[in-house]
Amino acid sequence: MGRIPEETVKQILDATDIVELIGSYFPLQRSGSNFKCNCPFHNEKSPSFNINPVGQYYYCFGCQESGNAISFLINYENLPFIEAVQKLAQRAGITIVEEAFDPEADKKRKRISRIKELNNKTARYYHQLLMKSPAAEHARAYLKSRGFNQEVAEKWLIGWAPRDSRKYLQLVKEKGFTGRELIQAGLGGLRDKQNPRAGLYAKFYDQLTFPIHNDYGDVVGFSARVLRADDKRGKYINTPDSPLFNKSNLLFGLDKARRPMGKKKFALICEGQIDAIVLHEAGFDQTIAPLGTALTAEQARMLKRYTDQIILCYDGDQAGRNAADKAFSHLSKIGLPVKRINLPQGEDPDSFIKYQGVEKFAELIAQAKDFFDAKLDLELANLDLGSASQRATLLKELTSLVASMSDDLSRDTTIQSLATRMRVGTDELRKAVSDARQRPDFETRESDRDQESSIIASTPIDRPIAYLCHLALHSYDAAEYLCEQLETLDQALQSFPGNSILRAILAKRPDPRSASAKQAFLMTLEQSDQKALMSGFQEEIPSDPVSSASDTIALMMAKYYQNQESALRAKLNDPSLTKDEIMSTMEEAKQLQEILKQLDQRF
Ligand code: CTP
Ligand code: MN
Repeated sequence: MGRIPEETVKQILDATDIVELIGSYFPLQRSGSNFKCNCPFHNEKSPSFNINPVGQYYYCFGCQESGNAISFLINYENLPFIEAVQKLAQRAGITIVEEAFDPEADKKRKRISRIKELNNKTARYYHQLLMKSPAAEHARAYLKSRGFNQEVAEKWLIGWAPRDSRKYLQLVKEKGFTGRELIQAGLGGLRDKQNPRAGLYAKFYDQLTFPIHNDYGDVVGFSARVLRADDKRGKYINTPDSPLFNKSNLLFGLDKARRPMGKKKFALICEGQIDAIVLHEAGFDQTIAPLGTALTAEQARMLKRYTDQIILCYDGDQAGRNAADKAFSHLSKIGLPVKRINLPQGEDPDSFIKYQGVEKFAELIAQAKDFFDAKLDLELANLDLGSASQRATLLKELTSLVASMSDDLSRDTTIQSLATRMRVGTDELRKAVSDARQRPDFETRESDRDQESSIIASTPIDRPIAYLCHLALHSYDAAEYLCEQLETLDQALQSFPGNSILRAILAKRPDPRSASAKQAFLMTLEQSDQKALMSGFQEEIPSDPVSSASDTIALMMAKYYQNQESALRAKLNDPSLTKDEIMSTMEEAKQLQEILKQLDQRF
């Protein structure tokens, strides 16, 4: 049985409106921003079944049944998952292309889904403690002091990680999760790495917890805030990065802001999750926040999928202004128009709304200026235009920001307006920008490759393959030799992870003496392949690359034939083999042993 790719499921959910779907089964009544009807899952006289158009989920206050469009069909129509998705796909006019079943990938998916489940259960547990535990009095008081009521806590599933984790750890165990799963989820660790018997600790304790959802709505991690002034830990601590949780491709609030930012055709970006929650509650439900890092290229790309314009609402301090510049360069590089508001010095959206009110903030947003106009309003107020050095510094900064704009027309419009405000010649500025764009390092200069590369998992690559890649990239003779060998090795090579990268190198054979030829070649590879190659790059080039290549190949072949041989041995144990089959298998095994003996003599 094939499998529906997760991307397709997302696409189908994106194209489905749950209100419309459920509304096609029974009449719905509007109730505030939600819709409701009598619950289809339990018997009732007055409607407690709520459908939330923003979150695209339903929830019954009577029987606690809840879910999304897919689970509605599963439960109401009694359909298996695949059929429910197919039904929605049909409604939305989307064709499903199934993936072939891959047991390895299936195992990985199951592992990841366990970790998600643990995160989701943990979020609910922490939330319950925050709402009810007598030990969480101070956490509730803190929440209140920030202006968050119970409803807000529920909507964002805010929680409290208990000071004493023993009960939590015990519950995790009782629910059938292993210590390994707890660690993989980033929710705990070994007390003593050398001695697993010493037990586990919980990552979060006595902190306010904000679950981080992926854009699909699953809890994949947490951002936790200390509650006491004398707490020595960082103000916020996040779940450590893992295959499931990666700060550079998650955005706080995206699951809730996704649809609104599409409808309203613009999104707000702020710096912190508290700001994001405050803005949502103030009616700006198209707000998201990165998780304590500068906006990454990947996050910019995610936003572009959902919306047409960005307004940056960063803190009114130097750090906020720098972060806004960085966000601008990523967003404009992929052609998203960016506006920006200037909050008063020392304010963030949370404090601004608290002291000046929502209306004032709404005005700021309504009057938000183009990024450069807003930036110059601020910079020029503090700048002595007569001071040559100050002007030069600012011009340089502006030039590199303008250079990141990928849209030719807006870039030129910006150049003209900047030239006027900075009192420089348009042609002069145009030339400076075009020079900046010509620089060979331009593509990577503004984007933080480090952060980006951590998102992308490296292609699995065997050491010997990585070494051969390294030789082929650095020695013409080795590349030549490997090309010759490739024909005879073809089948054996296929069993080594990463072999496709070696093939790509040998197919192109970039000139080892030209750094730029190598660079250009690397750029043609998938990023995951590039990353895999980096691991081999620290090695030195041997004095005789060809014989090193040949030795490496011999080693790999030995490994390959050994594997083949043990496969044959296993086969011989099969009682259902016919006599002929046994004979031919033994013959094969003998040949393999011959080959192995020859290989052995080489060393
Ligand atoms: N952050 C972090 N680690 C810190 C401080 C901040 O990860 N030690 C991240 C958090 O995601 C936080 C964001 O950076 O939401 C913005 O930081 P800051 O402006 O300090 O947080 P506020 O939202 O103002 O938080 P608070 O109002 O709770 O102080
Ligand atoms: Mn802040």
